[in-house]
Amino acid sequence: MIVLSHVWKAFGAKSVLEDVSLQIQDGTHLAIVGASGSGKSVLTRLILGLESPDQGDISMEGKSLQEMSPADWRARLRDVGVVFQGAALFDSLTVLENVGLRLFEDREMPPAAIRQAVVEALEQVRLDPNILEQYPAQLSGGMRKRVGIARAIIHQPRYLIFDEPTTGLDPLTADAIDELIEQLAARPGRSTLIVTHDMDSVRRLSSWVVMIRDRHICFDGPQEAFFRANDSHIQAFLARGRDK
Ligand SMILES: Nc1ncnc2c1ncn2[C@@H]1O[C@H](COP(=O)(O)OP(=O)(O)O)[C@@H](O)[C@H]1O
Ligand SMILES: [Mg+2]
Repeated sequence: MIVLSHVWKAFGAKSVLEDVSLQIQDGTHLAIVGASGSGKSVLTRLILGLESPDQGDISMEGKSLQEMSPADWRARLRDVGVVFQGAALFDSLTVLENVGLRLFEDREMPPAAIRQAVVEALEQVRLDPNILEQYPAQLSGGMRKRVGIARAIIHQPRYLIFDEPTTGLDPLTADAIDELIEQLAARPGRSTLIVTHDMDSVRRLSSWVVMIRDRHICFDGPQEAFFRANDSHIQAFLARGRDK
């Protein structure tokens, strides 16, 4: 379980998150929604330990992020896979090098074994291994997204985090990516966090919804309750989603 309790985050004078508390319980599929600039990506970076909270605590399996030993950190990195907003692939690296990045950096596996692990990760995202030596620029947007997902799952993490995985993709490609995420999320014991603007994705991929508005969490509840909420801001948000 990942727990944020009373987390505050500002950049200089700009306050982004104030007194934010939430939990990702084991096996939960959490969607985080909110307007652009509401702090969704900052929230995921806090969970990943790429930003530190100004106040409050973030813990994983009961261990506070700030107090983790190097061994705890390594275990934690193995447990979390992330697909950043945009595909965030390294343009100068091949698909093999991008997907196998962590394994190459760990230097624990021989290159042939890494190659095999990359092939298996590509199979899980239904990409043909013949693209191993290609560069991101040679791939379509949907394929690049799949490569990013393959990189996130190569460690078979318990937690998978997706930041706007379908933004910028055409509707058919977006549906295919959602279908893939749905399958990856169904793995027993796996929890997912998905940041999205797409209400179809929320319906399909979440069991729980958190909405951020004006630096605070304005909704935290089961998906059914989110779509039934009477709150005028949620209604307005849902209506905008339908217009798109
Ligand atoms: N490293 C940073 N330095 C300064 N401001 C930042 C930084 N990262 C994010 N912000 C600001 O924090 C706010 C929330 O950003 P973000 O989490 O990316 O929003 P979104 O909900 O669209 O993902 C924005 O106003 C953004 O400009
Ligand atoms: Mg964002």
